[in-house]
Amino acid sequence: MLAEHLVGRADELGSIDEVLAGLRRGRPGAIELAGEPGIGKTRLLRELAARAEASGLLALSGSATELERDLPFSVFVDALDDYLAGLPPATLAALDDEVLAELAHVFPSLSALAPAREVAPRHERYRSHRAVRDLLGQLAADRPLVLLLDDFHWADPASVELFGALLRRPPATAVLLVLAVRPRQMPERLAAALERAHREGWLSRIVLGALSLAEMREFLGEALDASEAAAVYEESGGNPFYLQQLARPLGRPAGAASAVAKMSRAIGVPSAVAAALAEELALLSESARLVLEGAAVAGDPFEPELAAAAAAIAEDSAIGAVDELLRLDLIHPTDVPRRFRFRHPIVRRAVYEVAPGGWRLGAHERCAEALAARGAAVAARAHHVERSARVGDLAAIEVLREAGEQAARLAPASAARWFAAALRLLPETAPGEERVTLLLARAAALTATGQFAGSHEALLEGLMLVPAESIALRTTLTTACARAEHRLGHYEQAHGRLVRELGGLPEPISAEAVDLLIELALNEFYRSKYHAMYDWARRAVSAADRLEDPPLTAAALAMPALACAMTKVRGPAQSCRTGAASLVDSLSDHELSRRLDAAAWLAAAELYLDRYADADAHASRALAIARATGQGELFLVLYEILGRAWYVRGKLREAIELLDGAIESARLLGQTQALAGNLFNRSVAAVATGDLDTAMITAQESFDLTRDLDEGFVPAWAAVRLAGVLLETGQPDNAAALLLSCAGGEEQALIPGSWRAYCLELLTRSWLALDRHAEAERAAACAQATAAAGQLPLAASWADRAAAAVALHAGDPAYAAERGLAAAAAADQAGAPIETALSRIAAGRALARAGQAERAVTELQRAAAQLDACGARRYRDEAERELGKLGHRVHRRTRPGKPGAAGIESLTGRELQVARLVVDGKTNPQIAAELYLSQKTVETHLRNIFHKVDVSSRVGLARAIERADRRRARPTGSDDGRQSLGAGRRQRLPNMPESRFLAGLR
Ligand SMILES: Nc1ncnc2c1ncn2[C@@H]1O[C@H](COP(=O)(O)OP(=O)(O)OP(=O)(O)O)[C@@H](O)[C@H]1O
Ligand SMILES: [Mg+2]
Repeated sequence: MLAEHLVGRADELGSIDEVLAGLRRGRPGAIELAGEPGIGKTRLLRELAARAEASGLLALSGSATELERDLPFSVFVDALDDYLAGLPPATLAALDDEVLAELAHVFPSLSALAPAREVAPRHERYRSHRAVRDLLGQLAADRPLVLLLDDFHWADPASVELFGALLRRPPATAVLLVLAVRPRQMPERLAAALERAHREGWLSRIVLGALSLAEMREFLGEALDASEAAAVYEESGGNPFYLQQLARPLGRPAGAASAVAKMSRAIGVPSAVAAALAEELALLSESARLVLEGAAVAGDPFEPELAAAAAAIAEDSAIGAVDELLRLDLIHPTDVPRRFRFRHPIVRRAVYEVAPGGWRLGAHERCAEALAARGAAVAARAHHVERSARVGDLAAIEVLREAGEQAARLAPASAARWFAAALRLLPETAPGEERVTLLLARAAALTATGQFAGSHEALLEGLMLVPAESIALRTTLTTACARAEHRLGHYEQAHGRLVRELGGLPEPISAEAVDLLIELALNEFYRSKYHAMYDWARRAVSAADRLEDPPLTAAALAMPALACAMTKVRGPAQSCRTGAASLVDSLSDHELSRRLDAAAWLAAAELYLDRYADADAHASRALAIARATGQGELFLVLYEILGRAWYVRGKLREAIELLDGAIESARLLGQTQALAGNLFNRSVAAVATGDLDTAMITAQESFDLTRDLDEGFVPAWAAVRLAGVLLETGQPDNAAALLLSCAGGEEQALIPGSWRAYCLELLTRSWLALDRHAEAERAAACAQATAAAGQLPLAASWADRAAAAVALHAGDPAYAAERGLAAAAAADQAGAPIETALSRIAAGRALARAGQAERAVTELQRAAAQLDACGARRYRDEAERELGKLGHRVHRRTRPGKPGAAGIESLTGRELQVARLVVDGKTNPQIAAELYLSQKTVETHLRNIFHKVDVSSRVGLARAIERADRRRARPTGSDDGRQSLGAGRRQRLPNMPESRFLAGLR
C-alpha cells in the first residue's frame, strides 16, 4: 500500500509555512515550485492548500493542461470562475465599472456583468491585467488568498502574460501566488518573468528533488521487500511518480518492446516506467480502454458524455467503463459532479499517445461535433477542429477564424495560432483575397505580441499571393510590411519596398500613392533624415490635394509639418502645421477615425514647435477616438506625445498615470523603442516629484534597452534622461561624459529640433558643477545658437537659463538675473509652468546674490507656488530652500498630527516605520510587504519623508536618522520611546542604484 500522507519535504514545508505565516499577517508573496515531471509538485501544492485552509485562509486552485493551451486565461478561469459564480454580488460591488467590464471578458461567470462600455483594445490589454489584480485584492479583503496554479508550464499565453503582470506589480493586499512548473518545459516569457521576480526577491523558488531511499521506503510502505525496493529505487531515481508506477503490482505482459520504447520516447519517461504504464493499460476491458482514450482526447478534466462521444460508444456503457477506470485508479473524481480527472497528466499523455493516430483524428472530430451540438464556446470547439479538420472544410475554417477573432483582443498569441490553423485548412482553390485577409489578421495578432519576424513573414506571403489588380489590398500589405520592417530595424528594406511599390502603381494620383508616400516620409523620419522626409511629405500633400479626401489630405499635411518641426526650418513648419491643424479640426470624429495618424503626427509636430496645448488637444482627441474605435496601432506614439506634452504643461499626475500604463503596454507589445521612450519620459516626471529611485531605474532601463539600436534620437534621448538623473544625484562627471558620448558630442547633434537647447542647458550645468567654466560657456553658447536658429520660446528659455548659470558662476549675478527672468518669460509664453518656475528659481538665486532680496523672494515664492500646484515637489523644495536662505520660512500646511514639528520629528508613526526600514536597507517591495502596504503607498510615504526630512535620497535619509538617533542617545535628549529609531540596530546605508553605463564607456 502506497503512503497516503506526504513523505519527506520537511525543508520545503518549512519555507512554505514561513510564507503562509507572513501571509496571515497580511504580507503578499509568490512561490514557484519547480521540478521534473512526477517529482511531487502537485502533491506539495495540495499540502499547501490544505495548510492554508486549515488556518482559515482562502485557497483557490487551477491548472493548465498539456493539450489545451489556447483557451485564453484558462488557468485563472479554472482557479477562480466557479468561486466567482458563487459569490454574493455585493462582494464585487466595490470594483468600479471599468474593472468589471474588463473582468467580464476574462471570466465566463462574470460575463453578465459586462456593462455597455468599451473594453480596452489589444494594445491596452494591460487593463485586463490590472482588473484581475484589483479582483484578487478584493477577494483577499476579508481573509488572505492563496492562488495555486498547477502545471503552469502549459499555461495559455494570455495566462502567462497576466501572471507576468501580477509578478511585476503584485496585488497590494494579502495574496499569495503559487505556481508549479516543469522548468524545462516553460515558455521563455514565463521563465524570464520568474527569473526577474526571483532576482528582485519577490518570488521564493522551491526546487523539488528526488526522494531519498529512506523516504522512498516510507512512501512504498509494505509494497516491496528490501531488494525489490532497492531495484525500484535505482530504476526510478527517487521520482515518486516513477516509483509509484514501478511498484504497481501488475504482472501482465507489457506488449511489444517496440511499443514500450515508442511510448517511453513519446512521453519522456524511463522505459521501465513506460512498460509499467503499458502493463497497467493492458489490464483494461475493451470498453474501458476506449472510454479512457476518448477521455484523453476530450480533455483533462473530462465529462463522460464527451469521452463517450469521442470514443463513439453509447453513454450508458461509458458510465460502466468510468466505474472500472475509477476502480483501477486511472481516473479520479473532481469537486464537480460528472467531471473526472486523469490520475496524472503523464497517464493522460500515455493514453493519448497509445491511441492510434487515425482514430484520434476521428475522436477529435466527434468531440467537435458533440460540442457544436451542445452550443459550446467557439474556442473550445476550435481546439478539436484544429486537430481533426480536413483541408477544404469550410465550416472548420469558419470556426477557427471566429476563435481567432474572439481571442484577438486579450489573447493575441492564441489568435495568431487559430488564424494559422485556418490558413492550413484553406483549399488551394480559395480566392487569394481570402487567404490574404487571414494572413493580415495573423500578422496583426503576431505584432501585438512582439513577434515582428513572424508577422513580417505572414505579410510577405500575403504579398506573393495578392492579385495584381487588388491595388488597395496590395498597398495595405505593403505598408504593413514596411511597418514590420521598421519595427525590426530594417529601414533600407522598407524603403526599397515602398519605392518599388509606388513606381508600380497604375495611378500616381491615388489614395494608395498617398499612403505609400506617407509611409516613405515616416521611413525617413525613423532614420532622422528630415530633409528627405520633407520631400516625400510634399509629394504626399500634392497628390492628396487632388483627391478631395479631407482625412487623407490631413494625414499627408501632418508629414511636412513634422519634417520641418524636426529641423530648424521654421517658416514652412508653422504654415504646414496651421494647414494640417485647421483641416484636422474641421473633421468630425467619424471622419478623423479613418486617418487617426493625421492627428497623431500633427501632435508630434506641435510638440517640436512648442505648441503644447495644441499637441495635447490633438493627441488627446486621437487617443479617445482610437479607444472608442478599437484602433490601437498609434497608442504608443500617442502615449509618448501626451506623456511629454502633459509634463511640459505641468500636468504631472496625469502624465505619470499615463506613462505607467504606456510602459506596461509597450512591454506586452514587445516594442523596445516605445518602451524606452515612455521609460525616459517617466524618469523626467519622477525627478520632478522627487522620486529619484524610480527616476534612476526607469532612465537606466531605457538606456540599456537602446544600446543595441542604431544611432538615432531615441537612444540619444535615453542617454540625456539618464544624464539628467545622474546630475540630480550628484554625479555631474558621469552626466557630462554620457551627454558627450551618446547624444552627439558638444553640440548634442543627435537631438532634433529646438529640444537640443534642453540638452545643452543640462550639459552647461554639468560642467559648472565640475567647475569647468570654459566648457560650460561653450555649451551655453551652443544652446544660444540653437535657440536663435529655431526661434522657439522654450529653446530660448533653456538657452537663457544656461547663460544665467554661467554668469552666476562667473560672478555676474546681475546679468544672471536678467537672463533668468528672460528665461521665465519665454517659458511662460510656451505655456510650460515647470520650466517657467525653474527659470524663476535661477533668477531668484541670482537676484539674491545681486543684493535684490525682495525681488528674489517674489520670484522664488512664485516659483514655489507654481511647482507646488504641479506636484513638482523636488523643484518646489529647491525654491523653498532658496527662500529659507533669505530668511523666508514657508508655511505650507503641515501634516496632521505633527503641527509645528520639523525634520524627523514631523514624521508620522507610519512614515517613521517606513524610514526605519529604509535605514535597514530594505527595498520598496520589501517595505511594502513588511508593512502590508502597496508599493505605491510606500513610494508616496517616501516622497513625503524625503520632503519632511529635507533629503533627496535614501542615503541622505539614513544619515539624517542616524544623526537624530545620536542626538536622542545623549542623556539630555528627550525620547518618549514612540519615536525610537531602534538604537543599537546594525545600520547598513543603502546606496542609490548605481549607474551601469560607465562600464560601457570605459
Ligand atoms: N512527498 C510525497 N509524499 C507522498 N506522495 C507523493 C510525494 N510526492 C509525490 N507523491 C505522489 O507521487 C505522484 C507524482 O507526484 P505529483 O503528481 O505531485 O508530481 P508532479 O511534480 O506534479 O508531476 P507533473 O509535473 O507531471 O505534474 C503523485 O501520485 C503524488 O501523490
Ligand atoms: Mg503535477
